[in-house]
Amino acid sequence: MPVFDLCNVQYSYLDGFPVLKNINLKINRGEKICILGANGSGKSTLLKILCGLIFPIVGDFTAFGEKITEEKLENDNFSKQYHKKVGFIFQDSDVQLFCGSVWDEIAFGPLQLGLSKQEVVKRVEDTIHMLKIDTLRDRAPFRLSGGEKKKVAVASVLVTNPEVLILDEPTNGLDPKSQRWLVNLLIQLNKAGKTIVTSTHNLELVQEISDRVIVFSEDHQIVADGPTHQVLDDRDLLIRVNLIDEYYHKHEGEHSHYHIHNY
Ligand SMILES: Nc1ncnc2c1ncn2[C@@H]1O[C@H](COP(=O)(O)OP(=O)(O)OP(=O)(O)O)[C@@H](O)[C@H]1O
Ligand SMILES: [Mg+2]
Repeated sequence: MPVFDLCNVQYSYLDGFPVLKNINLKINRGEKICILGANGSGKSTLLKILCGLIFPIVGDFTAFGEKITEEKLENDNFSKQYHKKVGFIFQDSDVQLFCGSVWDEIAFGPLQLGLSKQEVVKRVEDTIHMLKIDTLRDRAPFRLSGGEKKKVAVASVLVTNPEVLILDEPTNGLDPKSQRWLVNLLIQLNKAGKTIVTSTHNLELVQEISDRVIVFSEDHQIVADGPTHQVLDDRDLLIRVNLIDEYYHKHEGEHSHYHIHNY
């Protein structure tokens, strides 16, 4: 049974303009999958459906074998159970952080789940320790730097130990060391059995954060779905969907990767 199953899904926002067209997609347990696509192609919209934040206008979305509907997620209990299983790290950390201190921010999810005070303290401390953010514990989240905010957002999701982690443009705004830290964390979590779904247009990282890639065209359809290396080898496809231009080179060697030259 797949973790997520989308069948003929369409979505449009209030203006009625379709931003997801005829999406058919199955994501299996333990997969490490990345959604690729140019700006505005629909990546974040798709991830919001997986997280149960918005609902298909046409078609079905099934998660863990159960059809997900707005009515079901309006039920507090169902919603809590769903969000315990599926953790979402937003593209913009600012919309995710709202507590007065980092400690409270990380404790919010476990408290919502109704865990005992003692268990909450233990989980928060373990998570702070694991993510090495001890020095941030009493700081106000909104005063942190972009990378620090991202770490706190990751902590606030990992603390409830979700089965599936969904990260929208996880490495955006992170310096190389923080990018490396996050990529390694995702690899480690995936090895521990978690399903990891990301979106990005950073082709240099996609090989590390995914085994399988879904590609969106600029007209909001899935135009490729396959092993990461195979999709990245399809230069014509990547140009067509506006993920690379003629300035991109593929550096071949023991490792090959995409690289942009600033000239
Ligand atoms: N709240 C909204 N109301 C109306 N239109 C929206 C809304 N959010 C997104 N859109 C539109 O839906 C389309 C898909 O947006 P989405 O955010 O899913 O793209 P994306 O692939 O994540 O892009 P990016 O790479 O820039 O993050 C875009 O045309 C966008 O303008
Ligand atoms: Mg987006």
